Amino acid sequence: MAEWLTVALPKGRLGEKVYARFAEAGYPCPEILSDTRQLIFENPELKVRYFWAKPSDVSIYVEQGAADIGVAGKDILMEYRPDVYELLDLKTGKCRMAVAAPEGAWLDPERTLRVATKFTRIAKDYYAGLGRDIEIIHLNGSIEIAPLLRLSDVIVDIVETGTTLRENHLEVIDTVAHLSARLIANKASYAFKRERIAALMTALEV
Ligand code: PRP
Repeated sequence: MAEWLTVALPKGRLGEKVYARFAEAGYPCPEILSDTRQLIFENPELKVRYFWAKPSDVSIYVEQGAADIGVAGKDILMEYRPDVYELLDLKTGKCRMAVAAPEGAWLDPERTLRVATKFTRIAKDYYAGLGRDIEIIHLNGSIEIAPLLRLSDVIVDIVETGTTLRENHLEVIDTVAHLSARLIANKASYAFKRERIAALMTALEV
């Protein structure tokens, strides 16, 4: 009999889309959509167990082996570089990591650029590649406010529809990376539950 497979899903809109993909692929667990405070959901017939986690925590559960499999945005994988296998691009939750500034702003190339972001490592790597001196201002959300109130010159943040930027008179000046949801696996689980994981990957790919 197959082993149990524990799957960490990111809470929120992306997670619901991703769960639908798993259900269509033959791994349903209908309870997961019920209105409850329960955190872990099991389908004993299929021996699959799901739980919701904060998107940035999914890779921690998977890296530590508390979950065998998880779904995380490429942004999280680039920022935290968890020691996991990245198995599949699920091609959902597509967006990009971009640099944005107030519309028409002139950025003095001689001055240290002040960059507000939640994604410190991604921003540092990007500007290191350009050989540009920067000062990072680490924020935890609503990053778009920073350049409006002159806390920073630019932001490095996720852009999906572009609505947030437009409504705040900001514009994209460069794309840092294209992002989407990725299927990730714990390294030991991948070795010990290889067949189950391979079957799941095949089912998700079609
Ligand atoms: C994300 C991102 C942008 C917004 C982009 O924020 O940080 O603010 O979505 O989406 P759009 O291009 O479709 O407008 P999120 O809602 O995750 O919250 P945050 O401000 O806490 O980062």
